Amino acid sequence: MHADNSYFCTPNLEPEMIETHNINIQKTTSSKLPEIDFANLAFGKTFADHMFVMDFVDGRWQEPMIMPFQDMTMSPASLVIHYGQSIFEGMKAFKNTDGRFGLFRPDLNIKRMNKSAVRMCMPEIPEDIFMDALSELVSLDHQWIPTGELASLYIRPVLFAIDDYIGVKASQSYRFMILLAPVNAYYTKPVRVKIEREFTRAAQGGTGYAKTAGNYAGSLYPAKLANDQGYDQLLWTDAKEHAYIEESGTMNIMFVIEGKLITPSLGETILDGVTRRSAIQLAKDWGIDVEERRVSVIELQEAMNNDTLEEAFGCGTAATIAHIEAIADGESVYQLPNVEDRKLSNKMMKHFIDLKKFRVNDPHGWMVELS
Ligand SMILES: Cc1ncc(COP(=O)(O)O)c(C=O)c1O
Repeated sequence: MHADNSYFCTPNLEPEMIETHNINIQKTTSSKLPEIDFANLAFGKTFADHMFVMDFVDGRWQEPMIMPFQDMTMSPASLVIHYGQSIFEGMKAFKNTDGRFGLFRPDLNIKRMNKSAVRMCMPEIPEDIFMDALSELVSLDHQWIPTGELASLYIRPVLFAIDDYIGVKASQSYRFMILLAPVNAYYTKPVRVKIEREFTRAAQGGTGYAKTAGNYAGSLYPAKLANDQGYDQLLWTDAKEHAYIEESGTMNIMFVIEGKLITPSLGETILDGVTRRSAIQLAKDWGIDVEERRVSVIELQEAMNNDTLEEAFGCGTAATIAHIEAIADGESVYQLPNVEDRKLSNKMMKHFIDLKKFRVNDPHGWMVELS
């Protein structure tokens, strides 16, 4: 270990330590827009013309910038490459055919990013600068927001350590970026999931509730094994007993059993999903009983055996609502009811789309319209 190792996290800034945040905007001189085939977008592979960049150096955030999307150079010794100090968010901008566009509950992503930052010993991003960055960038590239029913502009804020230093310590400098990627539907058909009882995504005291890169890296191998067996996603169980359902890949999980919406309660091991929160609120608004509590695999097996499991779906920004077609547990594979018969998840999916396209009332003020 290095002699001058420091485990101190970067301090959270007092407002007076934050530089003025007029964003320096350098526009592209050659938009890629005319080359894009919006009907055939591969998820996460096409990027809009501009990106946002702001570094944290010498204990303060530096000038915020919007610039043409481009490659960047980094030291091979950058801390993020070696020790994984990296957090990110996933959110979306939506546009309707009248040209109105906006963000869905960006405040929750901003807060969650800063919660992840604290856990990963990184500086928090001032909420007002974060929000300004989102609205300036999305407004500048608004022509990149697709208008198709299931299409949107995926927004990827990411914060990572850029000290060039080999030794386990919290970096003193960081880069915060926001990338934009126009996308179509994430899943084109219902998904098949496998209950994971061997590998673990997150344990008590770990980083499960933070959206940090390592959580996803660690999930790739078990997900690949499940994929090889014909499953799209895993249903993670708790690390201690592998007896309770937690969440699924990049989605929270929900079940409808005898008319009630049941979802695992949050804790240190589950990501506090924006879609999950919104789905719970919608269900309550519609007078449906909602239970946030531990959900055991045994309870799920019983519901599948007794045909009382009416619906199962994942919810997350990328997919919104992903119907689950089949659940595998060891050698048993349970086939779930027809997707067309699933009242709640279909109603929710439709409502989310209508809301994001400004077609229905928004009593909770979830959409932040931009211009
Ligand atoms: C592990 C995990 N769980 C759940 C979710 C769903 O969260 P959200 O609805 O905020 O996208 C995500 C996606 O961000 C995720 O990565």
